[in-house]
Amino acid sequence: MDILKELGIESINSGANFSANEWSTTTDQGIVESINPATGELIAKVYAASEQDYETIITKAEEAFAEWRMVPAPLRGEVVRQIGNALRDHKDALGSLVSMEMGKIKAEGDGEVQEMIDMADFAVGQSRMLYGNTMHSERPQHRMYEQWHPLGIVGCISAFNFPVAVWSWNAFVAAACGNVTVWKPSPKTPLTAIAVQNICNKVMAENGYKPMFYTFVDNTDNKLAETFINDKRVKKISFTGSSVVGKMVGVKVAERMGKCLLELSGNNALIIDETADLENAIPSAAFGAVGTGGQRCTTTRRLIVHESIVDKVIDSMVGAYKQVKIGNPLDTNTLMGPLIDETAVQNFEKAVAAAVEQGGEVLYGGKRIEGAGHFVEPTIIKAENHWAAVQNETFAPIVYIMTFKTIEEAIELNNSVRQGLSAAMFSMNMRNIEKFLSAAGSDTGIANINIGTSGAEIGGAFGGEKETGGGREAGSDAWKAYMRRQTNTIFWGEKPTLAQGIEFNL
Ligand code: UN1
Repeated sequence: MDILKELGIESINSGANFSANEWSTTTDQGIVESINPATGELIAKVYAASEQDYETIITKAEEAFAEWRMVPAPLRGEVVRQIGNALRDHKDALGSLVSMEMGKIKAEGDGEVQEMIDMADFAVGQSRMLYGNTMHSERPQHRMYEQWHPLGIVGCISAFNFPVAVWSWNAFVAAACGNVTVWKPSPKTPLTAIAVQNICNKVMAENGYKPMFYTFVDNTDNKLAETFINDKRVKKISFTGSSVVGKMVGVKVAERMGKCLLELSGNNALIIDETADLENAIPSAAFGAVGTGGQRCTTTRRLIVHESIVDKVIDSMVGAYKQVKIGNPLDTNTLMGPLIDETAVQNFEKAVAAAVEQGGEVLYGGKRIEGAGHFVEPTIIKAENHWAAVQNETFAPIVYIMTFKTIEEAIELNNSVRQGLSAAMFSMNMRNIEKFLSAAGSDTGIANINIGTSGAEIGGAFGGEKETGGGREAGSDAWKAYMRRQTNTIFWGEKPTLAQGIEFNL
């Protein structure tokens, strides 16, 4: 296939990268198969990495860090700029591979690569803005300031749903800050990771630096992942995945006093009050719930609708869902592709059955679509917020509808889940809007007005509260999470003094 050729993907690939042109030769650790979720067909295979491969990577990464940290930050940014351009050159092919391997529609696959490009641009600018404060010392002839130094090896464990963009949020900012990144991609989407590594390798080789990006593909027994999480040489672990796994990762990394950045489950609500512009609210709710087959951490999972308009909203949502063309994600007319695998389809079925058992009314969809690939119907269920099916994040296109009478009640429902990633409100009522955004409003890391819960721009810090893990990635001052702060005090006078007025006369 031309796309695979352009991206350097063979029918069987090495799963560990050591330097710009050097990949591991390990073949005895099992094989990870990349399956197209729309057809069930094999795209290509990857040899899983060995423990020895992992050791080689960490050793090389430490050596590379010793040099990279001393490269001036704007020059580090220059390498990231070139990587951004290389991604521009391969946007179409990489976007198609994301679509083919993960199952999101081509427009979203391309959008994911665009997110990487945006992130590269952002990191280039950031490389000239790693600012520290200068503070006024309380002592005469003392200067006090703070500076930011890189951490070392940053470990990135990414999920299948955003197989490349989330890595770039971490890796590009981390690189501009002077770190090297070691990446364990999801075993469900190894090819996109290898393709990105190939693109980066070319740029690194052209620049003559030791690599600041490494990748290893783990087989599904997670042994290498555990080694990675427990490895003191990995100064920071940035983990994207479920809250259940994230909690374990957080505890393990904390035990060794490492740093951790967690981007975990969401259970995002979209509130529609009685003043909302439904022409705008309905398509946003439908994109939020159905986009990426409901497999974004920002997916709209709950619709909280004012009771006076709920019938109208349900009618309009059902009307919108009828127009959602499901099928091959590479076909430009398709709006919803498959789920990632059979387990995801079973989880969808279990969630629907659990909601129905508690009294939920399926207003649209609810069933798997028989035939090749892992397709399900986009689903709307009338439900209550406290039900287990509603409280848990199911990575599938199910949206639960519930009603409210007062804005206080809507905010209460919005916040009455364990997760705290994203929320949205559609309203033309200034008081409701401001209340929703106030300290007594939504308890999420992202809160939007008159736009949906998903599709955040990289310029803002991305992440959420409560069981979403508290991490922030991408824009704003998220760069600080990839650096360590050092406070420096310099005395330049002749008669030193102690702080707090302490006299110590010898
Ligand atoms: C994710 O689902 O892990 O805001 C990330 C969004 C995307 C990123 C989602 N920009 O929906």
